[in-house]
Order: sequence, then structure tokens, then C-alpha cells
Amino acid sequence: MAKPVLKWAGGKRQLLEAIYRRFPIDYDRYHEPFFGGGAVFFDLEPADATINDTNPRLVNFYEHVRDEPEALIDRLESFEDPDSDPDPDLAFAEETSTGRDVENYYYQQRARFNRRPYGHDVDELEEAALLAYLNRTCYNGLYRENADGGFNVPIGRYADPDWVQADRIRAASRALQGATIHNRDFEYVREVADAGDLVYVDPPYEPMSPTANFTDYSADGFDREDQERLVDLVTELDDAGVSVVVSNSGVTRDRYVEAGLDVDLEGATRAINSDASNRDEVDEIVATTVPDEKRRGATQTGLGEFSG
Ligand SMILES: C[S@@+](CC[C@H](N)C(=O)[O-])C[C@H]1O[C@@H](n2cnc3c(N)ncnc32)[C@H](O)[C@@H]1O
Repeated sequence: MAKPVLKWAGGKRQLLEAIYRRFPIDYDRYHEPFFGGGAVFFDLEPADATINDTNPRLVNFYEHVRDEPEALIDRLESFEDPDSDPDPDLAFAEETSTGRDVENYYYQQRARFNRRPYGHDVDELEEAALLAYLNRTCYNGLYRENADGGFNVPIGRYADPDWVQADRIRAASRALQGATIHNRDFEYVREVADAGDLVYVDPPYEPMSPTANFTDYSADGFDREDQERLVDLVTELDDAGVSVVVSNSGVTRDRYVEAGLDVDLEGATRAINSDASNRDEVDEIVATTVPDEKRRGATQTGLGEFSG
């Protein structure tokens, strides 16, 4: 059982059991169109799969984890402590693409990671290593982009950050050997899923209230229309004999009930607000097209928190 290499908003480690219970006992290929940190995929280690995300830097990262884990680990080992002075031999030692002063090594690496959105040539291995480095050294391990697509999370404060994670990368690389990786809109799955396959969808959650904006994973967010396209796709896949399991926010419940799925509320695992009076606002659903008698049920083991 592998573990996620990246910390990602909406990580599903805590919901694994609830999700697995709704999976079919048997299926052919596995597809995960909103990959993010890939908590379910890495725990499951499917032999034959497709995975997808619209974030090109995330997809580039997983391609390198799968195909060049040792080169990626070597690059990661070459990085320095985030609080060090900028390396004068590297680009952006003094200012970023947008002319901002660079204070320390972390902000230099962030500027180097932002070559792609600011139109510079990209060394893809370098970019993959930088994504993992920044993910382990940035504030809260958060991934957030500005309107230009520039990664803009400030430096985090960690006593002893481990940005290499060699064992996790090697285990993730083994898990990805049977996976085809796409960088498209989630509707690609229509072209790749056949009857008997399983699709697990975990889209950016629809906000519970107008002020909740934590679904902004990237510059181009996921809006109501996208949520509706997703319900249509789920219905279509179900009609074609493909099993689908969905996680989403509580506000989408009625739409999945109307689409004929079996929908359950799964408590407040996204702790955006610990105030008990607002608990119902953070409920999430897990929905499945799989009939009760064909479900795997509560058998899966191997739960554990994402550690750090
Ligand atoms: C909730 S996160 C997935 C979390 C993941 N299940 C985990 O355990 O870490 C949603 C992901 O969907 C991606 N995304 C956003 N819009 C998309 C689209 N139209 N098609 C495919 N992926 C999209 C985002 O980049 C983000 O990584």
C-alpha cells in the first residue's frame, strides 16, 4: 500500500473506508479523473488504471514519479533549507519574473517553479522536484495559484522539513506503473471507461455558502455548470454499465439522489469550521451507482492518517 506524496486540499485519507464500502466487489479498470493527491489510488494500487487532473504541473509531477523516481529523488536531495540565502548560481536569485525581490532560498525556488505560468522554458524534471519541495516547505502544505496561475503560497515554518520522501516516491512510483496519466477535463473518462470498470470522482467541492471559497484549487475554478456536467457524465456512465462512486459536498446531495444514486452523508471531515453550529455546512456525501448486493462492504483495511 503506497501513500500520497503530496499534501493536497480535499485529501481523502479519512474517508477511505466510507468510499471503499461503496465500491463493487469486482471491476475491470479503475479511473480517477480528479486525482489531486491521489489518496484512494495510492491506497488501492490498482493494476490497470487511468488517472487525470487539469493541473499540468501536478500531472508532470506524477509522470516523473512513475517514470524517473530516482532522478526525481536526486534532484530533491540537491535542494537546500528554505530559509537559506538564494543561490546566486540559479535563476531568480534576486527577483521573480514579476520583478518582486527574493528574500531567501524558498522564494527563489517558488519563482523557478513559476517559470511555466510566466512563459519561460520549463525543465520538467526540475519543475516536478520543485513541486514536491514547495509542497513540503510552504505554509500549511497548501497548493494555491493566483489569477495568472502563479503558485503563491508563502514559506512555512517547519523544524525539520523532509522534502525528499524517497521511500514514498519509490512506493508511489511502483503504484503508478499500471496507470495512464491524462491532463484533460474530467470528461476524458467517457472515452476510456468501459462496462465493468470503476470510476471514482472527487471533484473540487461545491461551496456550502457564498463565502466558502476553499474549492479554488487552481486559477480556473470549478463552477456550478461543471458540477452539472459531472452529474450528467455520472448518469451516462451508469447507463453504460460503468460503476461510479462520488464524493462531494453535502449541498449536492439532492442532485445525486435525483440521478438515481444511493447517497449517504458522511460527517464533517473537512474541518474548515470547528463551530458545532456550522457542522451541517461541512457535511459531505459519498454516492454510489453500485447496488447493495454487489458492494464490497466494510472489509478494506489499511487506514491511516496522512502523516505530515
Ligand atoms: C478534491 S481535489 C482531489 C483530491 C484527491 N481525491 C485527494 O485525495 O487528494 C480535486 C482535483 O480536481 C482537479 N480539477 C479541477 N477541475 C478539473 C476538471 N475540470 N477536470 C479534472 N480535474 C479537475 C483539481 O486540480 C484538483 O486537483
